[in-house]
Amino acid sequence: MTSLKERILAAVASELTAIEMALTENLAPHIELVKSVAGHILFSGGKRLRPLLTVLSGRLCGYKGQADKTYATIFEYLHAATLLHDDVVDGGLMRRGQPAAHTIWDPATVVLTGDFLLSRGLAIAARTGLPEVIAVIARITEEMSQGEIQQLHRKGALDLTESEYLQIIRRKTAVLFEGACQVGAQISNAPRHQEAALATYGHQLGLAFQMADDLLDYSFDSNILGKGVGADLREGKLTLPVIFALTNAEGDRKAAITAIIQNPEFTQAAFETLVADLDALGGIAYTRQRAKGCLEKAKDALAIFPDVPTKQVLLDIADYALARKR
Ligand code: IPE
Ligand code: IPE
Ligand code: MG
Ligand code: MG
Repeated sequence: MTSLKERILAAVASELTAIEMALTENLAPHIELVKSVAGHILFSGGKRLRPLLTVLSGRLCGYKGQADKTYATIFEYLHAATLLHDDVVDGGLMRRGQPAAHTIWDPATVVLTGDFLLSRGLAIAARTGLPEVIAVIARITEEMSQGEIQQLHRKGALDLTESEYLQIIRRKTAVLFEGACQVGAQISNAPRHQEAALATYGHQLGLAFQMADDLLDYSFDSNILGKGVGADLREGKLTLPVIFALTNAEGDRKAAITAIIQNPEFTQAAFETLVADLDALGGIAYTRQRAKGCLEKAKDALAIFPDVPTKQVLLDIADYALARKR
C-alpha cells in the first residue's frame, strides 16, 4: 500500500522539480557570501510545502500562466528567511539534519542574509503587478516577526495560556501558509469566494502544522526530525502539550514538570519522564485533537471546489500535516 506521503509526492513530482529550478534561478544574489548562506538553508532538503501550496492553489483556481513556480518561490524564500532568524533567536543548533547556519557563519551575517531573502520575496511579489499580492507579503512579514517577538517575550513564562499560544502560532506559522494559498488564487484572478476558501484552508492547515511540529518536539527521533528533540523545552518555549498538561497537573507532578521546564540542562531520563507525564495528563492527545479540528476546518473550506485531482492532493496534504514524522 502506498503511504500518504508517497501518494502526495507522486502527484506533485513535476511541480517539485520546477519549484527547485525556480528557487535557484530567482535567488540572484550579487555577493558570494550571501549565496553560500542562503544556499545552505535553501538547498538542504526542505519539504517545499509552502511553494507547493501556491502552485496547487493556483491550479485549483484554473491558473493559465507560466509564472506560478516563480511566484511560489516567494513563500520558500520567506520561510527560509524566518528559519535563519528563528535558529538565531531560538539558539537552534540543527536544521534539516545539518548544523544551523549561525553555527557556521556569524549570527549577524545570517540575520542579514535572512533580510536579503525577505527582500527577494518582496521583489518577486512586485513582479506580479498585483497590489493585493504585495499586501499579503507585507502582512506575512509583519505578523511573523511579531509572532516571534511575542514568543521570545513570553519565553519561560509558566502562565502562558492556550489563547496566547494560538495567537503566536497564528502569527508565526499560519499566516504564511494562508498567504501561500491566497496568492495562488490571486495570480489566477480567482473569484473572491475561492480566494477566501483557500485562505481559510491555508490558515487552518498552518495552525495544525505548527501543533504537529510542537508534538514532534516531544518525539524521540532527532535523526528523522533533522532538528533536536526537546529543543522547545530547552529554549523555555511552552507549547500546547505542556500548556494543557500544566493546567491539569497537581501537587508533586506539577512541581516535577515545572522543575524540568525551569532547568534547561535536563537529562534524557528527565525528558522521557516528562514526555510520559505529558501523555498521562492528556497533553499529547489534546494537542492532536486540536490539530485534527483545524484540519477538519481546512478540508471543509475546500468543499466549494469540484472534486478534481488537485483538490485531493490538498486534502492529502492536510492529513499529512499531522501524520508526518518530520
Ligand atoms: C518548520 O517548517 C518550521 C515550522 C513552521 C514548524 P517545515 O517543517 O516546513 O520545514 P522544512 O522546510 O520542511 O525544513
Ligand atoms: C516555527 O517555530 C518557526 C517559524 C515560523 C519561523 P519553531 O521554532 O517551532 O520552528 P522549528 O521547530 O525551529 O523548526
Ligand atoms: Mg525554532
Ligand atoms: Mg519547533
